[in-house]
Amino acid sequence: MDKDKFKKVLQDCGISAKGASMLDKLTEEQHVKLIENTINFGNEDIENIKAIKNCMEEYFEEISELLYSRITGEDGIKENVDIDKELVEQLKLSNIYYLKSLFEFNYDDGYYKNRIADGLAHNIFGISPSLYIAIYGYYNNLVSSFIFKCSQKKGLNLISTLKAANSIQKKLAVDNTFAIESYYKKSMDDYYKMEQESLSRLMTIAEYKDAATGDHIARVSNYAKVIAKNIGMDELFQEKIFYSSPMHDIGKVGIPDEIILKPGKLTEQEFEKMKTHCNIGYEILKNSSSPVLKDGSIIARSHHEDFNGEGYPLGLKGEEIPIEGRICKIADVFDALVSKRCYKPSLSIKKAIEIMEKEMVPGKSFDPDCFYAFLKGIEEIIEIKKSIDQTID
Ligand SMILES: [Fe+2]
Ligand SMILES: [Fe+2]
Repeated sequence: MDKDKFKKVLQDCGISAKGASMLDKLTEEQHVKLIENTINFGNEDIENIKAIKNCMEEYFEEISELLYSRITGEDGIKENVDIDKELVEQLKLSNIYYLKSLFEFNYDDGYYKNRIADGLAHNIFGISPSLYIAIYGYYNNLVSSFIFKCSQKKGLNLISTLKAANSIQKKLAVDNTFAIESYYKKSMDDYYKMEQESLSRLMTIAEYKDAATGDHIARVSNYAKVIAKNIGMDELFQEKIFYSSPMHDIGKVGIPDEIILKPGKLTEQEFEKMKTHCNIGYEILKNSSSPVLKDGSIIARSHHEDFNGEGYPLGLKGEEIPIEGRICKIADVFDALVSKRCYKPSLSIKKAIEIMEKEMVPGKSFDPDCFYAFLKGIEEIIEIKKSIDQTID
């Protein structure tokens, strides 16, 4: 989960914005510190572990052998995990490397990067999260049992032994936290990628039916983001509108081709039919559990509402119209005016703005604040248009 999403969840749970925004400011180093402080791992623990360091070094290979015989052996979890022998040998080596670096006490960026890579690798291998965490539990016990073995060998007193065992448990907990976090993050990233892919495929369906094309959708979502930024919406909102605005015309899948692709002006009856694309889009998306699709449903229904209440489908007025719809409407109208469609030629940017200014005056189509935000961002919008048009050519 990225920080913005986490922040949003905290805010949704009623946790103060101040507390949530603190997470934004954490560097990787502070992140490590936060976990170490939470688990109460410090310099004293390093001293405790040092007391058994020399003795533990002798057992690194044995610990790794035991770990992987547990995982792959007959009495282990062999039936559930199918890992080839060569891979197991490499995993044993990487575990020995981990133990070595654990007892070098140099817990720097590279050290935690390796913990993160460990979580990622287990996710890619397809090891289930419960099994992964169970292995950690087993591993923590295994290492502790060797601490007791060392302590006997070195004749350490009970207090020093318990201190060393306690400190190593804390350190393994810190390390496991990072590995499990990256395991989880990979799953979430995969989920978001899948969601994005589903969205873009959904868009492709709409494009098949629309006189506008995929580049229209790309331009509208970029313009909407610029407008959102210029009316002062936060980054999370800007991201959300970027991903949800492409769905504004998804309801056109329910409109007959002869209306969608008609080269001339629509008859009154045809226009009435065309207007239903707003509610069709809303119905398609409204019950989705995805926040992006849910926002898409709002935009699908509200992007043809007019600020003066004379738009459709609901005839909402002013701020009754969701802000996402008011923003998307401007982005959509601008792009439609400057683009060629089967029923009209394209206009120059200057001419398009002239026409749009008439729609902004009080009592007309556009929300004046959103329109000023659009004008404020016009240079950026022109740049976006140029770069998208170039990619399409
Ligand atoms: Fe539309
Ligand atoms: Fe559109």
